[in-house]
Amino acid sequence: MAETHDVLVIGAGCAGMRAAIEAFDKGANVGVVSKLHPTRSHSGAAEGGINAALGNTAEDSPETHAFDTVKGSDYLGDQDAIEIFTREAPGDIYQLEHWGAVFTRNEDGRLAQRPFGAAGSPRTVFAADITGHVLIHVLYEQLMKRVAQDASRMTVYEEYFAWRLVIEDGRCHGVISWDLLHGGLKFVGGGATILATGGAGRIYRTTTNAYACTGDGMAMALYAGLPLKDMEFMQFHPTTMYPTGILLTEGCRGEGAYLINKDGERFMARYAPNALELASRDVVSRSEQTEIDEGRGVNGSVFLDMRHLGAEKILDRLPGSRELSMVYAGIDPIYAPVPVRPGAHYHMGGVETDEWGRTELEGLYAAGENACVSVHGANRLGGNSLMETITFGRRSGQHAAEWALSQAAGADAAESHLADADRDLKTLLGRTNGERPWQIRDALGATMFENFGVFRREQQMLAAIDDVDALRERYASVIVDDKGDVFNNDLTQAIELGNAIDLAAAMLTAGVARKESRGAHSRPHDFPARDDENFMKHSIVRWQDGAPDLSYKEVRKTKWEPMERTY
Ligand code: FUM
Repeated sequence: MAETHDVLVIGAGCAGMRAAIEAFDKGANVGVVSKLHPTRSHSGAAEGGINAALGNTAEDSPETHAFDTVKGSDYLGDQDAIEIFTREAPGDIYQLEHWGAVFTRNEDGRLAQRPFGAAGSPRTVFAADITGHVLIHVLYEQLMKRVAQDASRMTVYEEYFAWRLVIEDGRCHGVISWDLLHGGLKFVGGGATILATGGAGRIYRTTTNAYACTGDGMAMALYAGLPLKDMEFMQFHPTTMYPTGILLTEGCRGEGAYLINKDGERFMARYAPNALELASRDVVSRSEQTEIDEGRGVNGSVFLDMRHLGAEKILDRLPGSRELSMVYAGIDPIYAPVPVRPGAHYHMGGVETDEWGRTELEGLYAAGENACVSVHGANRLGGNSLMETITFGRRSGQHAAEWALSQAAGADAAESHLADADRDLKTLLGRTNGERPWQIRDALGATMFENFGVFRREQQMLAAIDDVDALRERYASVIVDDKGDVFNNDLTQAIELGNAIDLAAAMLTAGVARKESRGAHSRPHDFPARDDENFMKHSIVRWQDGAPDLSYKEVRKTKWEPMERTY
C-alpha cells in the first residue's frame, strides 16, 4: 500500500525541515523523505552564520542587504526575489530564536552580528562558528514536536534514497525511493512535492560538501524535463583547509583573521584595498589563486592567520574552527597560520523556481541549494545561504500546503512507474561485466577540479566536456558489486554518479557558452570583463535526447542598474 501525503518534502536539511514545518502548520499531512537522518544533513556543517538586517551592531536595513546581494551577485540575481528575501529574513531569524536557536549575543543582550564578505554592515547572526549545527537541531526539535502533536500528519522516512519523480498528466505525484535500511523500491506520494536535497559539491574532487551532496534533486528535475538555471556558477570558498577541503569559516575573517602568502604579506591589500579579506568570495578566491599560480603560495595554498586575534577571542567566537584546524591540519591557530585554498563550496544554480518555490511542473517545488530562485546570481554572499534555506523553505512549504489542500485530487500514480523503476534497477544490479563506480567518480572530480575551477579557459572546458562524455560511456557499463538489501551504498553511489555526470555536463555546457567573466565564472584569458549587453541573462539547461540543451532567460530588475563592482 503506497503512502501518500498532501505535501512530500525530499531532503531534511534546513530547507526541507523548514518547509515541512510550515506545511504542517498550514494544515497539511506531510511526509519527509531523506537519505540521511535529518540531523546528519549537510546544513549542519554550515559554520559562520545567517544574514538578516537586524541592525544590532551597526545601522542596517533590508534595502542595504538587498543592494549588497544584488552587487555581490554581479547583477545576475533576480532583484524582486532578493527584495522579498531581505525583507522577510529578520522575521525568520526571530522565529528561529523563539524556537530555541541559541545565537551568540551582544553585551546588551541583543543578537550579535559579525561582519561577512561584501556586506555593507555587520549582518551575520551566528552561534559561535557552529550555526548550521544549532539550526539543524532546532528544526529537528520542531519537526519532532509536530510528530508528537499529530503523528498522523507528519511522517519522516529516514534513510530513503529518492530516485525518480513520478509524473503523470503534467503533474508531479511524488517520488520513487530506495529504502536504504530494508531494501526495496517504495513510492511515496505527494499532492505537492518539494525538492530540498541540497547541493552537488561532490562533483568536484575537493569540496567543503559532505559525501551526501550529489545533486540528487537537481538531477531528478533535469530528467523530468525541467530547467536548471545558472549551473555554471559553482562558488569556490576562499578558506578550505589544505589538504582535506574542510571549511574554515568566513567568520574567521569576519572576526579579523588575515590572509597571508608565503612571504607573510597580507596580499588582499593589492586586490581589494578597501574590503581586504572581506571582499566578496569570488574576488578573494581569485586573489588567492593568483598568489598560488604566481608562486607565492606553499603546496598550492596560502595561509589564514588568526594569531593576532588572541586565544580568548578564538576560544569564544571560533572554537569549532580551532578544533577543525587542530584535528585536520595538525595546527593550533592560536599559535600558527593554517594553510587554506579555494574549494568548491556552493552551487548558485539549480532548479528554476519562482519566489514561492514553484517549478514549471505543476505540483513540484524546490527550495534551498538545489533551487535557483535566484537570489545569488553569479556569486553568493556568505551567510545568505542559511537564510535562503529558511525563508524560501518556509515560503515553499506554505505555498505547497495551500495548493495541495485546494486540489480536489491528491497524489495518485499508476503502478507502472514502480514496475519501470524495478526493471531498471534489476538491469543495473544484474550487470556483471563492467567498472565499479569509484574510478569514474574520481575521474569526474579530477576533471571538474582541474578544468572548471576558479579560473576557466575555453580549451580546458572543452576538454572537460570530452572527459565527461567519455565518462558517461564508461558509466553505461558500471557494475554494482553489492547485491544486498541493507545499506547498499554501492547501489546508491552508482545512481548518484550517473546524476553527477549529467549535472557536470549541464555546468560545462553553460560555462563554455558564457563568453564573459561574471561572479564565480572567470575567464581572464579570453573574456576578462563582464558583458552586460550580451550576458546579463540566466542560462537555462534542459535535458534533451540525452544531452544538455542551452537557452537563456532575462534577469528581473527592480531598481538597481548594473555598476562596476569594486571592494
Ligand atoms: O564560511 C562560512 O561560514 C560559510 C558560510 C556560507 O557559505 O554561507
